[in-house]
Amino acid sequence: MEGEMANVATIRVLPSAFLVFFLLFTSFFLASGAEEAESHGVFRRTLDQKLMGLKKEKLTHFRLYWQEVVSGKNPTSIRVIQPVNGSQVLLGLVQIFDNALTLGPDPDSKMVGRAQGFVIQPDQNEIALLKAENFVFVEGKYNGSAITILGRNSVANTVREMPIVGGSGLFRFARGYVQLRTHAFNNETLDTILEYNVYVLHY
Ligand SMILES: *[C@@H]1O[C@H](CO)[C@@H](O)[C@H](O)[C@H]1NC(C)=O
Ligand SMILES: *[C@@H]1O[C@H](CO)[C@@H](O)[C@H](O)[C@H]1NC(C)=O
Ligand SMILES: *[C@@H]1O[C@H](CO)[C@@H](O)[C@H](O)[C@H]1NC(C)=O
Repeated sequence: MEGEMANVATIRVLPSAFLVFFLLFTSFFLASGAEEAESHGVFRRTLDQKLMGLKKEKLTHFRLYWQEVVSGKNPTSIRVIQPVNGSQVLLGLVQIFDNALTLGPDPDSKMVGRAQGFVIQPDQNEIALLKAENFVFVEGKYNGSAITILGRNSVANTVREMPIVGGSGLFRFARGYVQLRTHAFNNETLDTILEYNVYVLHY
């Protein structure tokens, strides 16, 4: 008898306990959601890629010439920290640059962008530079858009490869790589022309 009554009581208690719990739970989430929206705006949402203009990823190849001028009155590349005294491999060197990117190997050919960045020489055994640079375009539809490159440039190799780690403007979500080779090195002025082949995936 007592057992039966206890069962009946349990049956009555269960739905109401559930209802209270449910109401508390939902009001908690509704309240915190409203509070969040009021105080911080949208914290997280899933966006439609197509509405963001990200329809189809494409692969673009650019061939550019990187004009480094260290000589004369208007150098575009300057050593800002000297290597460790006596280092055969220029350990510790830091050099910053704002070099022209041209369509042809001739320094007077059309400039379409600038390569802005720096190199550090961290390798103790060979000249293998840590290079960080932005290729910012100044022409046509790419004007103002930039590709960011970060990698290792071992100058003893004929072809060097560095990753593209991102980009802005038309290069949002960019990834890819560049291959570079020395097109010309003037052993008197020490000016260098590199050929860059850029392979970039972007939208
Ligand atoms: C560099 O090292 C050489 C000899 O090892 C020394 O004569 C010279 O003074 C050093 N230069 C500097 C800037 O420390
Ligand atoms: C590139 O963009 C800059 C800044 O918006 C503008 O001043 C310049 O005229 C543009 N150059 C070309 C070639 O469109
Ligand atoms: C510079 O290059 C020229 C031609 O390529 C060569 O004849 C000359 O020996 C080089 N000079 C030095 C200092 O390496």
